[in-house]
Amino acid sequence: MPAVSTTGVDSIGLRTGSPPAVKVSSVNKSFADSLVIDGVNLTVEKGEFIALIGASGCGKTTLLRMCSGLEQPSSGSIEIFGKPPAAATSAHEIGVAFQRPALVPSRTALENVRLTLKITGSDDAMDPLALLTHFGLAEALNRYPHELSGGMQQRVNIACALVHQPALLLLDEPFGALDEITREKLVDWLAGILRESSRTTLLVTHSVEEAVTLSTRVFVMSRRPGRIAAEIKVPLPAIRDFEVRQSEQFLDLVRSARDALHAAIPD
Ligand SMILES: Nc1ncnc2c1ncn2[C@@H]1O[C@H](COP(=O)(O)OP(=O)(O)O)[C@@H](O)[C@H]1O
Ligand SMILES: [Mg+2]
Repeated sequence: MPAVSTTGVDSIGLRTGSPPAVKVSSVNKSFADSLVIDGVNLTVEKGEFIALIGASGCGKTTLLRMCSGLEQPSSGSIEIFGKPPAAATSAHEIGVAFQRPALVPSRTALENVRLTLKITGSDDAMDPLALLTHFGLAEALNRYPHELSGGMQQRVNIACALVHQPALLLLDEPFGALDEITREKLVDWLAGILRESSRTTLLVTHSVEEAVTLSTRVFVMSRRPGRIAAEIKVPLPAIRDFEVRQSEQFLDLVRSARDALHAAIPD
């Protein structure tokens, strides 16, 4: 009996052969003659929550854009669930939310989510009204973006990214423009929302605490041209409540991530 059978189930019953959620292989990216991403390798397994931190301009957004198929690598390859990113996007497997909520100003919160659904055209979608209500926005369904606070706008933005039930969520500094208190609340809110599913998430953030609070692994990128300089595993309990965030283990992990970030960005 071979250790790994041809049916894709190994001797201890784990499924094998299923592609990872994200596989970035030897990716370089240049704009004109300028190298922005330098030989990045990154594998994200299904269900992981990865945080990516690094100095401004080191290529984090570019990496995320390549993962969603909006940008092409200059060399190397990216696969999402074993497919090219554009194919994964067409199959409704990717949801994307960026720092500035991409809401249509002339549409209400509910209309924005409905519009996104119409554009993505997914069959297996959530009900926009139920989703926004679940996101604590029942009172804000019929408000226009300019009538919503920054935190509410970002929740609508994330609802737009999630409404078609993507298996992979790409978040680019979604809380970057918010004040500290709103940001802390939204981090807790997002952790709760994402715990309800087995979704894979790749989050770019400039907050080391946010990275450690949310992720299972933190990747640190070097200054431009961006390389993966360090990886920190985050073996904390799934629910990182106030008590966990005050623990020695949490504070040690934040310290390690911060040290790795400083080492990756020498003065
Ligand atoms: N479309 C583009 N054309 C030219 N340069 C770009 C383009 N997109 C990003 N860059 C450059 O690539 C570098 C990395 O940008 P970005 O990925 O936005 O970094 P980060 O998100 O880490 O701040 C920056 O120097 C930026 O100016
Ligand atoms: Mg960026």
